[in-house]
Amino acid sequence: MKKLFLLTCIALIFQNVNSQNKVAEITIEKKENKTIINKHIYGHFAEHLGRCIYGGLYVGEDSNIANTKGVRNDIIKALKELKVPNLRWPGGCFADTYHWKDGIGPKKDRPSIVNRWWGGAVEDNSFGTHDFLDMCEVLGAEPYLAGNVGSGSPRELEEWVQYVNYESGTPMSDLRKKNNREKPWKVTFWGVGNEMWGCGGNMTAEYYSNLYRQYATFMPDVNGAVKPFRIASGANGEDYHWTEVLMRDIPKGLVEAVALHWYSVINWEKKGPSTKFDENQYFETMHSALKMEELVQKHSAIMDKYDPEKKIALIVDEWGGWFDSDGGNEGGVLYQQNTMRDAMIAGVTLNTFNNHADRVRGANLAQIVNVLQAVILTNKEKMLLTPTYHVMKMYNVHQDAQLIPLKIESPKYIFDKKELPAVSVSASKDKANLIHISLVNIDLKRENKIRIDLKELGIKHVKGYILSSSKVQDYNTFEDSSKIAPIVFNKFSIKEDKLEVTIPPFSVVVLEGN
Ligand code: AHR
Repeated sequence: MKKLFLLTCIALIFQNVNSQNKVAEITIEKKENKTIINKHIYGHFAEHLGRCIYGGLYVGEDSNIANTKGVRNDIIKALKELKVPNLRWPGGCFADTYHWKDGIGPKKDRPSIVNRWWGGAVEDNSFGTHDFLDMCEVLGAEPYLAGNVGSGSPRELEEWVQYVNYESGTPMSDLRKKNNREKPWKVTFWGVGNEMWGCGGNMTAEYYSNLYRQYATFMPDVNGAVKPFRIASGANGEDYHWTEVLMRDIPKGLVEAVALHWYSVINWEKKGPSTKFDENQYFETMHSALKMEELVQKHSAIMDKYDPEKKIALIVDEWGGWFDSDGGNEGGVLYQQNTMRDAMIAGVTLNTFNNHADRVRGANLAQIVNVLQAVILTNKEKMLLTPTYHVMKMYNVHQDAQLIPLKIESPKYIFDKKELPAVSVSASKDKANLIHISLVNIDLKRENKIRIDLKELGIKHVKGYILSSSKVQDYNTFEDSSKIAPIVFNKFSIKEDKLEVTIPPFSVVVLEGN
């Protein structure tokens, strides 16, 4: 009996070691594919929350920090380099408390408001519609305005649409001109409320669907104004009933997209620290991040039932890691540092979105500066780019490129008898026929090898970049802001048309081939 037990153990260990050492083959799915990875998958989100807007993006025109109309120039430069395709504003939960008319006209005349959701901060409305939309123009990003359904009215939303989109000759376009903006900004993306199952008003899916129909009806596109792309407030993670009801009850012509929110959280009661986490917390975060694959598949399957032609998009307009706030010197509500763990979340999530680009046609990382999984952190005049910034930048080669559907039998990342797929991948071909393959190895200890048939991809030359560090808890600080940054990657070889890549533990690699 003892002998049998011993032999089984040896066999299991051997099998394990063997499965870890084998080279994972990546194969190209042969099916006809014309899917474009919509650049809006790489969108961002800026809420009136903590130091995202005030003391983050916006320092005001009188600040000593160099700025353009109050927005920090160093941030503008970094975001331009990132190629931000769209930016969602003003929330989040804040959106359903926001009354846009409070934020227009001379700044000195604007009323102050209490930010009811985020620490009761009193705000002076100095950053309003003009400030946001002008900033988007400077960034070259499309604005995504989240309308107030929870405490607003169809009239308020209708007038906002008029104000920003109508050429002339209407009360709202006249008001805009009076406020020194001649031409409309032409805003396409509009959210009809946010998290209506929670901070947006604690509604049922059935009640919200009716309300949505009412609000969406009064979002005008007459007088040559741009047609609003209306995004219905979506499900909280696994709430499939929400998507089912929206798809069933909202008539086709009234909705262009349905949203979904999912945060990579270990446990809402015990989120754990942003930097001093252990391997168990890391594993659980990865488990949560990889759950996006299942969520996208299941919500898409429901949408397929009602919309087999995939006319309605799934927009994951809030995603990212959520840990305990760091507070500290930098301070601010929901401020957290950003480590290589965040780089892993970004890498695997973006691969999921790319691979489901037929339905996922937009997403917004929460949030852009100083809040949650930020790409930029600031402390007074100092600014740093986080590991997540670098992943978003490395991956921006996929924006508007044609998806190359791949299959991988991933090696396993095993921890404490639990396992996850270690390697995630997505690939695309851009307009210049360059092929990009993005790879993530989430395993904390093992490098992994993958093999790709270059002939199938029509590639002869390969180059690449890697983001890695010596510890997964590593992060950039205001004192050492370039500790983590992409470098040239060369751990690959080409033999007989096969590319063999060795991906180090917890790293992100993007290869370019032609
Ligand atoms: O991103 C922070 C908050 O998370 C948003 O305001 C809300 O929509 C979500 O619950």
